[in-house]
Parts: sequence; C-alpha cells; structure tokens
Amino acid sequence: MAGNHLHDLAALIETLEAKGRLARVRSEVDPRHELAGVAAKQEGGPRAVLFEKVKGKRWPVLAGLYWNRSLIADLLGKEERGLPQFVANCIARWQRDPVDPAVIKTGPVLEVTEPDVDLGKIPVPVHALEDDGPSFDAAVVIAKDPESGIRNASIQRFQAVNRNTLHVNVGAKPHLEVSLEKAKRMGRSLWITLNCGVGPGLHFAAWAPAEAAPTGRDELGIASEFHGAALELVPGTESDVEMVAHAMWALECELIPGELAPAGPLAEVPGFYGKVEPRPVAHVRRIHRRHAPVFQTILSGAEVWNSVGLLGEANVLALLQRQVPGARDVHFSHGSAGFFHAIVQIAQQRAGWSKRAILAAFAAFPPLKMVTVVDDDIDIRNAQDVEWAMATRLDPASGIVTIDNAFGHGLNPSFPNAVGPKLGFDATRPFPKRAEYGRVAFRAVALEAYEIAQAEPKPAGSAAADRAAPQLTETGTAPAAAASSDYDTDRVWQRELADWKEGRGAPDGGVFAPARPAAAGDWDENRWWKRELAEMKRERENGVAPAAKKAAPVKAAPPPPPAPRPAESATRHSGSKDWDENRWWKRELEEMKREREGRKGPAGASPPPARAPALTRPPPARSADTAPEARRIDVRADRASADEDDGGFFHGGAI
Ligand SMILES: Cc1cc2nc3c(=O)[nH]c(=O)nc-3n(C[C@H](O)[C@H](O)[C@H](O)COP(=O)(O)O)c2cc1C
Repeated sequence: MAGNHLHDLAALIETLEAKGRLARVRSEVDPRHELAGVAAKQEGGPRAVLFEKVKGKRWPVLAGLYWNRSLIADLLGKEERGLPQFVANCIARWQRDPVDPAVIKTGPVLEVTEPDVDLGKIPVPVHALEDDGPSFDAAVVIAKDPESGIRNASIQRFQAVNRNTLHVNVGAKPHLEVSLEKAKRMGRSLWITLNCGVGPGLHFAAWAPAEAAPTGRDELGIASEFHGAALELVPGTESDVEMVAHAMWALECELIPGELAPAGPLAEVPGFYGKVEPRPVAHVRRIHRRHAPVFQTILSGAEVWNSVGLLGEANVLALLQRQVPGARDVHFSHGSAGFFHAIVQIAQQRAGWSKRAILAAFAAFPPLKMVTVVDDDIDIRNAQDVEWAMATRLDPASGIVTIDNAFGHGLNPSFPNAVGPKLGFDATRPFPKRAEYGRVAFRAVALEAYEIAQAEPKPAGSAAADRAAPQLTETGTAPAAAASSDYDTDRVWQRELADWKEGRGAPDGGVFAPARPAAAGDWDENRWWKRELAEMKRERENGVAPAAKKAAPVKAAPPPPPAPRPAESATRHSGSKDWDENRWWKRELEEMKREREGRKGPAGASPPPARAPALTRPPPARSADTAPEARRIDVRADRASADEDDGGFFHGGAI
C-alpha cells in the first residue's frame, strides 16, 4: 500500500528498533499480572516494550507505544510540542475533504483463518491485580450504523470470558452503544470486527471524540490522513462489516441486543476499578490473523492520557483557534488523569477572551472538569509555571467560573451519572495588560558560543570537600531530606551524578530517593532517570559484571541520540526549568553511559575519556547548599548580562 509506515504495526516495530525506541523482554513473563507489572515499571520511559516470550502463548506482546509523547512524536516525525496541532490539522483535513477507506480483496490479516475459534490462543494479558480477566484494550472496533450503514471506529475493552465469548465494556453512550440500541429497535443483531495490532493512525481515528467526528461520517477516513493514503480494509467473511487489512488479528463478532452479562471490575484510567455491571455480550464467530502476529496492549495510565488526552487536546485547540483569536496551545495535565484538566495558552487580544477560551474548551471536550487559561509567557506543560500564573495573576473574585450540573465524564467520581461541576480559572493578567504583571526575561543565547569552565566536585577527603561537608549538616539540607519539589529533585540528581562521577557513594549507600507525590509527567521522568542511575551505580559497584549483565532479563536497545545542545539552548522557554533540567540530566547520563561503554571494550583497562576541563580557579566559598551547583552558578556568573541585571549577582535558577 502507498503511504507511510504508520498503517502497519510490523513496520512500526522495525522503526522503533532502528530508532533505539524498543526494549525487548527476553525472559518469559506470565500474561496474568506479570507482563503488566514489568510494563508498569517502564511506563513513561523512552521505549516501547516487546515481550518476546509470553507464558503458555505462541505470540509476543507489545506495550507502551503511547506512554511517552516524545516517542509518539518520533514515530510521527513531528516535534513533541506540535503534536496537538498536527493531529488537529489532520482531523480538519478529514472534515473538509475525507479520503474514504479502500476495500481491497485481501490483506495480511487474512494470511491465516483459524479453523476454530479459541481466544485462549491469543496472548491477551490481565493487567491490574483486581481485573476480572484478560481484556483486549487496544483493538479497534469497526461497527456500522444499522440505519445508515456508516462505519464507526472506537476502542472499548473486550473481556475474554471463555474460548469464544467477550464482555464489552461499553458505557456512557459511545457510538457503539447507540448502534446497539438501533439494532435492538430493528430486531437484528449487530456485527462488529475487532482489529488488534494496528498503528497510531487508526488509533487516533478511534479516539477522535464525538465532537470532532460525529456519527454520519466514516471515522476511518481519519486514519487515511495520518497514513498519507487511503486506509485499506478487507471484506468480512461472516458479515458486511470490514476488517483492517494490515491488522495483526481480526475477530468477527456478533452482538445480540439485550443480551447482557455481569462484567468487571477492570482498572479504569483515573486510577481505580470500575464497577461490576451488566454488559453486552459479543460472540466471536471467526478469527483471522497474520502468520506471525504481535498482540498490542495499552496499559491503563500514561498510554491513555497520551491517546484520549492527545485527541482531546487537538479538538480543543481546533475550536479555540476558530473562536478565540490569539489562542496558542493547549495541554491536558497528566495529574488530571490525562483528560480532566486543560491548560490553555492565549495571547489575549480583548478583555473577556480568556473566559471565552474557558467556554470553548468545555464545549470542545465534555470530559473536562477544569480549564485554566494562562498568558503566552507561561509554559503550559510545566506545572510550576502554571501555578505561578495562578498564584500571581488569578483574581478569585472575578477569575473563577463555576458551572453546576454539567455533562462530564462518568469515570470521574465527582460526576455521578456523568453530571457534575465544572471549574474555569482565568489566570491571565488583567486586560488591558498592566506593567506590574510583566515577567522577567533574559536574553536568549546559544551557550556553545561561550567558553565556560565547569567545576567538578572535589574528591572526598580533599580540603575543599572537607570545608563543604560540615556546612551541609549545618544547613540541614542533606540530599535525602531535600525533596518536596521538582526543583529539589533536580538538585538531588545533580548531586547524585557528581557523586557517581567522583566515585563516592550516597550517604545511605543507595540512591537518594526523595519522597514525592506520585504524579505528573515530570515526576515520571525523574523516576525513570533515577532507575537508570541506580542501575549504573550497581554496575560500577559490581565491577560492571558482564556475565550478570548478559543474563539481565531486559535488554534495552541503545538510547535514542540526545538532542543537540545548540537547539536546546535556543528553544528553551523561560519558564520550563524542571523539564529542561530533566533533559539536561538525561543527556549527562547518556554521555556517561557512552563513556562507560567505551571503557568496557577489550582494552577495558584504558582510562575513561577526558570530560570537561576542570575549573581553573578554586570554587567560590559559598553555602554548602549551593556548593554542588557550582556548574549552574558558574555559568550565571560568566554571563552576568541579563538584560535588566546589574551584573554579577547569583540569582539561582536553571541555565
Ligand atoms: C486504552 C483505551 C481503552 C478504552 N476503553 C474504553 C472502554 O472500555 N469503554 C469505553 O466506553 N470507552 C473506552 N475508551 C474510550 C473510547 O475509545 C473513546 O471515548 C472513543 O472516542 C469512543 O468512540 P466514539 O466517540 O466513536 O464512541 C478507551 C480508550 C482507550 C485509549
């Protein structure tokens, strides 16, 4: 088929591998709980995970295709921050001028038609500990409206209860339920196909909210936009409902309206279990597959935030751009379960347009409970920056909008029967803009143009280190205690790295583990790098232990190449401190890993490559709290040229 690789999961897996975006779990894992447990440990990391050996099953399982936005952006060949706009543009093109799917005679999914129906042969995992059973959670449902015959695409979880029966976790009136009701009125059964193992183009079509893709249009055409060619379907063998030609598996199923069975509980994306409820029953009549299929699963959590959430962001952005001139960007915070809170960025042009943005966002995506609108000097992906806007610019008397008894999302417990309260926060500065709300800015520079000496921490026992050590105790900011903000966490990692480089252990003999609330994307990044660091330390302590390394269950592909520093410095947003800090440490780690790999070669005894030149003057005598941050301070001292600064002051903050 013409078009790009996005229509075919096999091609995508090859791309992931080539880009260093795939980890292969070679050890056998139990599909019941263990597979999801291993996946959950890697959630949010830079790689998807392929489980090569699944206990009792013949085929591998892929997880994590959507749990990291930079991974998605890499696959689509786009900038991470531009994803909502890219998705919005594709959907707008489909709305204007749809490319309908093409029905072809045959395709890879028809390579094998199973002689009998046995769901037990498919490696369907059981994810959460209290899940009632294995569920298909990434298979795209194709259904046809019984009256109009127009196709619809969606994802519902289908729980396998025996070799040929599934319970359908359908709720809150998605289009599938509407079709089922119509079929009931017409006294006929509803046929669907369940297409498992597909790429992001088709998934994005399935997740397009009803506000973007109402019934009456063939939603599958959205996939064509992402693929750059018409989506290919093959005819059903049991009914007139087609299957996706390049899917890994396609199940042809019949739903008999009115037939219900108690189903659940299943883990729900806000982080709790759904109720046991009567659900429609699907009878699997035929199973088709490729010769060597890969089963795809989506872990409840970050993968859903980045799927349903990304499509929601795209729709909010599209409506805002039509209705509110100056609307720039939108982000659904991960702390809000991925789609209950939208942060909207606008360059406000008229008084009251921030409130207009609140109303448009609610209209574009009803699952939202909260919308916060900020100015265009705020980094909407940085919770600290957004909080700064709320703390300094929000006027509670006039800036908070509440709407009672509004339609929302049934999975939010504050919306029983999908009805509940909505909250809008106008955290933009007063309009017309007043000077006192202006924000400090620094000149954008490319650090590569500067000669900068970086201080290396002094070896333990040296006079300088001894001078610093007692101060650490005095200020009471020993790393393990400094913990409660992203900023502190970054400092802890900075010290960790310095210790690691100098061959010192952490005071407690382990990795500093700041207590932090389990929450948003930044924190996941921190967790990720913390694990990386812990692993490297273990290796160092075990003298690299090549044999042990070989036996390690998870063999990760090499990390993706780090972003070049010039672009980094040039594009850095004034407010995006934590994020950039994480990226910074990530690069540091990658560099150290490369050095370590270099040392592991046959001439392993050779010394590590020289790192940045040591500071030629003694580190400034300063408080122990800031001493390990000599690099940061030093840079600022060297470039004491912030536009409105009088030079030479240490202000703290990230470079
Ligand atoms: C991994 C994943 C699992 C989902 N599971 C369900 C589910 O079990 N039930 C449901 O009603 N919606 C579920 N959804 C959400 C629907 O797919 C989504 O709301 C979709 O837009 C519905 O399509 P429709 O607008 O054509 O009805 C899930 C989404 C994802 C990403």
